[in-house]
Order: sequence, then C-alpha cells, then structure tokens
Amino acid sequence: MDDCTLPVLNTGLRGIDVASSKICDVRGKEGKLIYRGFLIEDLATSSTFEETCFLLLYERLPKAKELNDFKQSLTSKRNIPKNIYTILKTLPPDMNPMDVLQMTTPLLIQNDPHAGKPEMEHVLFSAENMLSGIATITAAWDRIRNKKDVVEPDASLDHAANFLYMLNGAKPDEETAHFFDTGLLLHAEHSFNASTFTARQVASTRAHIYAAISSAIGSLSGALHGGANVRVMQMLKEIGSVDKIDGYINNILDSGGLIMGLGHAVYQTDDPRAIILKPMSKRMGELSGQTQWYKLTKALEIKGKAAFKAKKNRDIFCNVDFYSASLFYAMGIATDLFSPLFAISRVSGWAAHVIEEQFAMAAPKPSLYRPGAEYVGDYCGPDECIFLDIEDR
Ligand SMILES: CC(C)(COP(=O)(O)OP(=O)(O)OC[C@H]1O[C@@H](n2cnc3c(N)ncnc32)[C@H](O)[C@@H]1OP(=O)(O)O)[C@@H](O)C(=O)NCCC(=O)NCCS
Repeated sequence: MDDCTLPVLNTGLRGIDVASSKICDVRGKEGKLIYRGFLIEDLATSSTFEETCFLLLYERLPKAKELNDFKQSLTSKRNIPKNIYTILKTLPPDMNPMDVLQMTTPLLIQNDPHAGKPEMEHVLFSAENMLSGIATITAAWDRIRNKKDVVEPDASLDHAANFLYMLNGAKPDEETAHFFDTGLLLHAEHSFNASTFTARQVASTRAHIYAAISSAIGSLSGALHGGANVRVMQMLKEIGSVDKIDGYINNILDSGGLIMGLGHAVYQTDDPRAIILKPMSKRMGELSGQTQWYKLTKALEIKGKAAFKAKKNRDIFCNVDFYSASLFYAMGIATDLFSPLFAISRVSGWAAHVIEEQFAMAAPKPSLYRPGAEYVGDYCGPDECIFLDIEDR
C-alpha cells in the first residue's frame, strides 16, 4: 500500500450532492419537507394522494379537469394482466410481499403498448400504469396468500379507498379512507434516499422505467430502508403496556440498542410527517377500538426522548415510522404489508425522479452514474500478479 495515493473516501455518498433536482427539498434543521415547492403540511391538509402524484409527475398542481382526467387514467389502469394472478397463485404463501412486488411489477409492461419508448408521454403512461398496478398486485397477493378470492378494483373509489377495498373486500368508511390517503401522500417522496437513488441510477443507463422502479422496490426491501415501522410495531408488541416502557428503554439504551422510530439521518427536529401522523394514529385507534397502540406510542415518545436526553445529553426526535406503525396496524393492515404500502406510495416519487433523470436537460446531473472505488487489494500500482497454470499453484 505504501506507494498508493488514496482518494478521499466519501463512504456511502453521505453529504455528497450527486445531481440537482426540482422535486423535493428536505430541510432537516427546520423540519421541513417540500414537494415541488409545497409544504407537506399544506398538501396533507388540502390535497389528495392522486393530486400530489400529479404534482410530482407533471411539476405543477392540476386544474379540476386535469385532475379528473388523471384520476380516470389511473382508474383505467387498475386491472392487471390476468397472468399475474396465475403466477401469484403458484407462489408459496409465505413469500415476502416485497419480493413478490419486485418480481411482478415488470409484468405490468404487458398493459403498456409503448413501454420503453423514449418519449415523455409514454414514460408518463408507464408511471401511471405502475401507480395503479402495484396497488392491485399488493392487494391481490395478500388475498391469494390468505386463500381468499381476489377482489376486482372498484372504479367508483379513489386510489386509497380502492386499495383498502381490494385488500379487505369491504369499502372503508370515509375517515379511514382519508387517513390512508394522507398516509400515502406523506410517503410519496423524500429526495435522494437509497431507493430513489437506485431508481435514478438505473434510469441513467437509459433502462426503461419498469426496470428502474422494480430495482427501487428491491432497494426499499432492505432492513435499513423500508420496514422500520414494522420494527416499531414489533417493539410496541414486545413492550406490551405503558408500565413496561421504562424497563424496556433502559435495557435498550444500556445495551447500545435502538428505540425504533426515533432518530433520523436528516431531520434535527420531529419529522413533519410524524407530527401529521400522530393525531391520525390516535383517531384511528378510537375508530378501530384499539387505542392501546397509540397510547403506548405516545408514552414511549415522551419517555424515550427523556431517557435519550439523560443518557446522551442530546435530543432525539420522532421519524415518520414512529406513528405510521400504530396507524396502519389499527387499520388492520398486516405488518409485512407496511413496506409494500410504502412502495404503493413512493412509486410516484420514484417515477418523478426517473423522468427528471431522463428528460430534465437543465438540471445538472451525470449522463451515467459511475462512482469510483478505492482499490484495497493486496497489491497496487504497476505490480501485477503472475498468472500460474492451475497445476503450478
Ligand atoms: C435513523 C438513524 C440511523 C439516524 O441515525 P443518525 O442521526 O445518523 O444518528 P447516529 O447513528 O449518528 O446516532 C447518534 C447516536 O445516537 C444513537 N441513536 C440514534 N438513534 C437512536 C435510537 N433510535 N435509539 C437509541 N439510540 C439512538 C446512536 O446509537 C448514536 O449513539 P453513539 O453516539 O453512542 O454512537 C438512527 O436514528 C436509527 O437507527 N433510528 C432507529 C431506526 C429507525 O427508526 N429508522 C427509521 C429512519 S426513517
């Protein structure tokens, strides 16, 4: 190694801007999340998931007719190719829903006559096809693995309500549908995180958007990315009751473990999405008659923050997963569907990034992502190994 001049390492690209983007701004210090210039609080209060998808994909809010057309276009794409159902029925029921989603998403291409064509209108069609199709696949897989009949989509329902209908076989009440819609909206975009970077990197090779999105689903399936709210729910179940929180937290902090749902790599205050999710979790608990999960989460927030401060002499804050766990659980959604829910929502953000990667000429970005790596093998410089014939090794 002595002669080697090593480049400065930026392991994991942390803190490195690799492109410019007009899609999302995450201001960690201020606790602000902004989609295309709009604060997440305003979108959560005044917009819907479909309208926010339009905003992400088309770079502006729609007029009434445009929104109506967009919704109709999404509705028309809810029926997935029949052979996807056939394939789902052949899979082992314990197969992870994220693996199922990653495997079947490219099959939606069969409903897309212009898939892979480079024009923007065709890529947008593909994005809408996946927005609708991924929701249908997720609901269908949950029913098939539980040996229930698949529920056909209902064109009279909005995206969120229709998903719950396809999942449960019953139309959700208005409040539950609204909370689920807002939950999707809150997860739609979050700048260059691992799965979004995956989508952009694949798109930069000029692979089509189905390849980019299914790769992003694979990235999201990892334990360090999607799935933190699954672990929040596991933690809540393990704790069980408010009187056990102190003991649990002390054990965790003394052993160097993590209180799931607290802390964030970017936010230095409560994640704005957690603030919006908190009252939704409370109300959903009341609606479902399962108030214990919200109560436990709220007590854990207070006690966890105080214990962390006492131990580390610094503050820690709630992230998006802290209250989404109890919200989705109170809706009766299986915990292993939490990450697919994330994908159902985030496909909008991924698609916006793929489009920006492929079409936005003004935004500085590499023509193809190709980072370097520091070689740390046994030799360096001009000294190469001598290749010995196999019998001489
Ligand atoms: C998200 C996360 C990786 C952010 O990490 P970060 O801001 O980079 O913070 P660091 O990893 O630098 O941690 C700083 C210190 O706080 C501790 N810490 C951070 N989050 C913690 C948590 N949730 N519980 C207990 N300790 C925590 C770390 O162990 C570290 O301790 P140390 O200084 O003794 O090594 C981290 O907070 C975490 O793992 N949280 C729990 C998992 C989770 O909810 N993930 C979803 C994120 S959206």
